[in-house]
Amino acid sequence: MFANTVRRHVTISRFFNAVRDERLPSVLVGGPFRRLRTQRPVFQRYFTSTMEGSQGVTIRRGRMEDVPGVWQLAEEAMWNTHQDMIETHFKMCENGWTIAEKDGNVVGCYLTHEFNDDLTTGGHFVVSSKMRGFGVGGQLLRNIAEEYGERNIHFSSISYMIDTYERYNGAPLSRGDTGGKYFGVFRDIPLPPDASRTYHLSDLQQVELSALIDYDTSYHVVARPEMLKLWLDQTTAESLVLLEKGKIAGYGSIRPAMNGFYLGPLYAENTIGTMVLFRGLINLIPRDSNVDFFLPHANEAGQLILKANENTVGLYATFHRCARKSYIPVPKWNNVFALLSNECGLC
Ligand SMILES: CC(C)(COP(=O)(O)OP(=O)(O)OC[C@H]1O[C@@H](n2cnc3c(N)ncnc32)[C@H](O)[C@@H]1OP(=O)(O)O)[C@@H](O)C(=O)NCCC(=O)NCCS
Repeated sequence: MFANTVRRHVTISRFFNAVRDERLPSVLVGGPFRRLRTQRPVFQRYFTSTMEGSQGVTIRRGRMEDVPGVWQLAEEAMWNTHQDMIETHFKMCENGWTIAEKDGNVVGCYLTHEFNDDLTTGGHFVVSSKMRGFGVGGQLLRNIAEEYGERNIHFSSISYMIDTYERYNGAPLSRGDTGGKYFGVFRDIPLPPDASRTYHLSDLQQVELSALIDYDTSYHVVARPEMLKLWLDQTTAESLVLLEKGKIAGYGSIRPAMNGFYLGPLYAENTIGTMVLFRGLINLIPRDSNVDFFLPHANEAGQLILKANENTVGLYATFHRCARKSYIPVPKWNNVFALLSNECGLC
């Protein structure tokens, strides 16, 4: 009943813009954004394995030229992203990519981001379909464990990988909330009549950036001004701010994916506000476009919207929030309708 109505290609001209190598200006350094005391070392190493397929694989730090290769891996895994989004992740997490390379091709990757000494997040773990089962993924995991030692990394695990991650962690993982990666066409937003009267939707440009960063920090706990600026400034992204009596009561962002669009983040103070904002963002894209997003199961508006659109929406995978040592709960988790990124951030 699900997938056949979705996953169609949506063509909008800017969607096919060539990836620019421009660097966005770095902004808002300082303030609450505590810097790391140490920088991760640059490394390059070769590994040999008894498994034929992994011979000649190099594990090294990622660089901007790896964007197309990493995007290809994501597409093989059917993660429905776009090269622009991968490029933005490279800009947000400079020095954060670990790449497995063979014969000049990217065959595996893992992404980590160090927000500060206490918070590291990770994910985007994928190996080329032709190379799976030969030990490349295991080597990437060992590399991360070796590099980060005892550090407490937060990540999301797809259900079937939890046992494997626990084995590589050498100890039970600390588990948190769950969610789903959903995709589909959202035609019905079950809002009561006049519900939107209380709210005003505004362009990002009409809102003080510092107020938006403060609002984002009320969710993410650790402020992430540079990351936010890069994410929202991606040229293909459209973002809206939900205002109630002139005060920020939510915000959200949507951008092209390979098939349709990727939504994230979308945070709002309550269920009605979430739906008003979601409808506003859906109205920015062509009618009946496919939308992908990571939805925490605890979000009430999410459950109502899934129910109202059950004939046109599908679940790609369930994810479990985990940490290597101790899971830090996100205080406003129930108000998170869509994560900004599954791998680089708490929500
Ligand atoms: C998950 C993935 C990265 C593993 O890469 P790989 O190179 O095939 O992994 P390896 O052959 O090195 O195996 C490493 C470990 O992962 C385990 N593993 C691999 N695929 C698995 C699967 N589908 N389910 C459960 N465990 C799996 C292996 O059993 C092995 O564990 P062991 O060392 O204790 O025996 C790869 O299958 C992939 O890209 N999958 C699609 C994307 C994905 O699901 N990513 C994980 C998101 S949380």
